[in-house]
Amino acid sequence: MLRLTNIGNLSTYNSATGLFEKITNCNIDIENNLIVNIDKNNRNGIENIIDCKQKLVTPGFVDAHTHPVFKNGREKEFIQRISGKSYEEIFNDGGGINSSIIGVREISETNLLDIVMKRMDEFLSLGTTTIESKTGYGLDTESELKSLRVLDYVNNNHKIDVFPTFLGAHSVPEEFNGDSTSYVELICNEMIPAVAEQGIAKFCDVFCEQGYFDYKDSHKILKKAIEYNLIPRIHADEFSSIGGTKLATEVKAISADHLMEISDHDIELLSNSDTIAILLPGTTFFLGKKKYAPARKLIDNGVQIAIASDFNPGSCHIKSMPFIVGLSCIYLGLSIEEALIAATWSGACAINEQKRIGSIEVGKQADLIIWDLNTIEQIPYNITAAPILNIIKNGESLINLD
Ligand code: NIG
Ligand code: FE
Repeated sequence: MLRLTNIGNLSTYNSATGLFEKITNCNIDIENNLIVNIDKNNRNGIENIIDCKQKLVTPGFVDAHTHPVFKNGREKEFIQRISGKSYEEIFNDGGGINSSIIGVREISETNLLDIVMKRMDEFLSLGTTTIESKTGYGLDTESELKSLRVLDYVNNNHKIDVFPTFLGAHSVPEEFNGDSTSYVELICNEMIPAVAEQGIAKFCDVFCEQGYFDYKDSHKILKKAIEYNLIPRIHADEFSSIGGTKLATEVKAISADHLMEISDHDIELLSNSDTIAILLPGTTFFLGKKKYAPARKLIDNGVQIAIASDFNPGSCHIKSMPFIVGLSCIYLGLSIEEALIAATWSGACAINEQKRIGSIEVGKQADLIIWDLNTIEQIPYNITAAPILNIIKNGESLINLD
């Protein structure tokens, strides 16, 4: 058994009460990988103890939207953007998603997994203990299957838990010369059956956006995915409102993500559904845009919101969930408690793992952050440098404190 003693402030969502709670001066007992007891007693005779020195303990972050399977960064586009070009213009000039494809197609599987393993080291060191990860830079059947094998390897060989999503519908690759109909046929008739047969991906995502996949294409792809038991999720209303959110509610997608351009009518559709809104303020920030998703309106209409990093080589090269929490407080108008719930509990809901992770409760997996901080307010306040003392992943201490 492992006992975390002398916790000054345990801050977590509590699924029994539906509230965020703070317990002072307490201990957590962990057996194998599970939380078995939370109490305030002093007990002797326990061998394996971590003294939390009166500091803050929270659940590990659940980052429910990332794109980590790519080879090279696209810092050239960053330079183009700060010189005044938009993300859309860069894509139309041959940059963007399609410029990441060649790297993934050509790199060996071993080299690609080395790169992704290293990225996961960084995610974990920043407190992300579970991550949803999309493919989407291979965009032919073999490279998409390779990307999924890489994610599976990382899940089995890295301490972080990875939930893979097939995103063959990320962009229409150049060899199709803009013939999206033929590419959608390939996705539906070849890729999705092959991905299902491979058995690694849990979810299927679509970039429903002007110039990428329209409502009809996205509908076709997600319907096919459902037939093959892949859970649908969708990039919706990121740059234009073309029906992505409506589609999310029609196919009962687990999440509709981005939503910077969501209409009031679509907010209402979401509020009458179980689809979770995953908001990605890092993307708006990194692209230098001004229009953030209408988080308060969504919350006021009863939509459950999660926040995630959207880490990718183009629109958001940010891994840090503490930073995303800070952005959410500053630009989305979330309270600190709302932001932390969105980054832990609701992130877990958005990958259907809320029974196992996303909060600190007896019976849950012990995925915890011991901060070198005293209160949750200090997380966004230290926006780029909130110090972490230790991370407990699956009941195991990642840093030896003594
Ligand atoms: O979520 N929107 C689509 N995909 C990413 C961008 C990917 C890229 O630029 O490489 C996003 O913003
Ligand atoms: Fe994305």
